[in-house]
Amino acid sequence: MAVIGIESSAHTFGVGIVEHGKVLANCKSMYKISDKGMIPSKVADFHSKNGWRVIKEALGVAGLRIEDIDAVGYTKGPGIGACLRTGQLAARAISVKYNLPIIPVNHAVAHVEITKHLSSTADPIALYVSGGNSQILALSDGDFKHYCVLGETFDIGVGNMVDVFARSAGLKPAWGSTVAKVAENGSYVPMPYTVKGMDFTFTGLLTYATKLIGKEKIEDIASSLQDTAFSMLCEATERALLLTKRSEILLCGGVAQSTRLKSMLESMASTHKAKVHVAPNEFNADNGGMIALVAEKMFGAGYRSGLDSANTDQHYRIDKVEIIW
Ligand code: FE2
Repeated sequence: MAVIGIESSAHTFGVGIVEHGKVLANCKSMYKISDKGMIPSKVADFHSKNGWRVIKEALGVAGLRIEDIDAVGYTKGPGIGACLRTGQLAARAISVKYNLPIIPVNHAVAHVEITKHLSSTADPIALYVSGGNSQILALSDGDFKHYCVLGETFDIGVGNMVDVFARSAGLKPAWGSTVAKVAENGSYVPMPYTVKGMDFTFTGLLTYATKLIGKEKIEDIASSLQDTAFSMLCEATERALLLTKRSEILLCGGVAQSTRLKSMLESMASTHKAKVHVAPNEFNADNGGMIALVAEKMFGAGYRSGLDSANTDQHYRIDKVEIIW
């Protein structure tokens, strides 16, 4: 069984093809973010122009024809509405033209599941960190098997926080990786630290750091901002680890590409003899492979629904999704 998956929740239009759990292709095109950040209509235009090319590229890499595909998955949400609709429309078009089942996938579930799949872990907790989301998750069994949100950001995602700071500081390109580079030689400046149980907030930290621009060295601000935010995530994750009595942590989502966050998390985990698992960066960034993987799992577990259910939901929460496999 081969399944194609389309990811378009933000600036990436990704197309993956999975067959029996093996990722055969994972292609993408990325919208270049300007100093103003992401303008949804412009990103959606970019996806519309490039989407079919990426779909054809993925089929070529996988060595398959569209006629060889058994089902089509796409990102239902969460994400930017205009961007989500480009992937949804592409999936609907493929579904109608080739008479294929269509499978809506939750983006957060996909991030966790691809990391779990590639790490071969049994029952971990997950720290899911990206531009739009920051959550601590654990799978709960029962009548409605789902990912429980043990803790989460009360305002913005940690990735968005770092990106907004980078733009305010005039760092180019305005990415977390640029902030990480600048932060390498920084010294600590005290900053606001907000953790409530297993929840956290980032806007106070962002405002404070932004006001320091021009008053302190940029490397000191970048380093302190990054380490304060990551310490908050580590403290909340440590609490979740002890509460759930688990011994493995999945680090997933775009910010999982941060080597600093990974090393801080590993340092915390080692004091509890716990292991941290991270996927290769190709699968931490938004990608179609993770959507295809979950679509294949859903299809294999018997998920069947028509075009009427193939909608989008900008605020599609992970804890609303039943895990049926
Ligand atoms: Fe993502």
